[in-house]
Amino acid sequence: MTTVMRRSTRMAQEFDEGEWYMEFQISNRMRGMKPSIIREILKQMSDPELISFAGGNPAADSFPAADIARFSAELLENDPVGVLQYSVTEGVPAAREAVRKFANRHDEVVKDNDDLILVSGSQQILDFVTKCLCNEGDVVAVENPAFLGAFLSFRCYGAKLVGVSMEEDGVDLTELEKVFSANPKPRFFYCIPNFQNPTGRTMSAEKRKAVYELSVKYGVPILEDDPYGELRISGQPVAPIKSLDITGNVIYAASFSKIMCPGMRLAYCVCDKALMKSLVIAKQGSDVHTNVWSQRICAQLLTRTDMDRHIEEIRQIYREKAEYMMRLLDEKCPQIRYVRPEGGMFLWGTLPDGIDMQEFVKRCLERKLAVVPGNAFLVDETQPCQNFRMNFSTPTKANIEKGVEIMAAVLAEMDR
Ligand SMILES: Cc1ncc(COP(=O)(O)O)c(C=O)c1O
Repeated sequence: MTTVMRRSTRMAQEFDEGEWYMEFQISNRMRGMKPSIIREILKQMSDPELISFAGGNPAADSFPAADIARFSAELLENDPVGVLQYSVTEGVPAAREAVRKFANRHDEVVKDNDDLILVSGSQQILDFVTKCLCNEGDVVAVENPAFLGAFLSFRCYGAKLVGVSMEEDGVDLTELEKVFSANPKPRFFYCIPNFQNPTGRTMSAEKRKAVYELSVKYGVPILEDDPYGELRISGQPVAPIKSLDITGNVIYAASFSKIMCPGMRLAYCVCDKALMKSLVIAKQGSDVHTNVWSQRICAQLLTRTDMDRHIEEIRQIYREKAEYMMRLLDEKCPQIRYVRPEGGMFLWGTLPDGIDMQEFVKRCLERKLAVVPGNAFLVDETQPCQNFRMNFSTPTKANIEKGVEIMAAVLAEMDR
């Protein structure tokens, strides 16, 4: 230890003039990648005066903190080794079984030919699916706009994104067929059928069926990302595309981030057993297995508490906040059009022509309201865009009101 320290001190002295410093050669894959704009905006959250409609955080008062504390103490008392030791890559068997039952309680999501893996957040599924299915330069078809964290994962593996436009009831099928039949064919199609991030739109049952049929016809797998499906605040549930899948085309991703808490970093992926073998190896090369404590807590929450009641409580919180935000927008900012979401966490605003969206976002931020510029969710951020995203799950009602008032003031100023 002493020798190493002495040597490093001598080396530090030798190079202390500043004439040499390590320059890392960033891989082709990562060079030019930009950090998520939302994470960048969230860095400003340390400003206590800032109101954020920018993030996508679940309402903190919905976290089952007391149950987690109780189960955690019990587990550490009764089975410390089982909670703290290494475990299997696919996930703790009891937790996997509890999650399988939960996933299948309304529709058959996990079929006989499928397997289920517990992962560290659904972001990890997006990463592993790309790692397993894409070579550098391959095409991935995506809803456009869509979740920018997904774009980041796909791009980290050198995938080329081809956007498919969105309509009120989901993706444009004519465009999708064109993209599926093109050469090169996409390696998979990424979509968020429930309360899409960022648009809040829900893909209709008819479109889900049509998308599945196109996937089978052209042999393009679907990556169905469903972190918000449980958060319906109005309308009737629509079955996941995965529940239609009899050919193994659909890879289904769901998360406990929005119905338990995101800090647990727990999500699950359901897909055909053959693909699952590769996903398991991808995970072994990444983080070996998912946090055992999280998995065990999740199993306890699913088997010993009334999860459906808990989910209904979250829905009630979001229903109230969403309706409050929409009512205020109608009253104070009638110029802003928005999609009425049937669930999720976001409103997708559209500014009238003549109001510059980037300038609007900038002026809101100057007055300490953060919203996300809509072009951040586009495959090509340089495209003209009149949209911006507002989150209603995180801010308090008082801050929703203040935030909408800021938008109204900015619009009045820009309208002049
Ligand atoms: C559409 C979508 N997919 C995936 C994720 C990642 O969620 P997590 O990694 O917390 O499960 C998010 C996060 O907000 C999201 O909006």
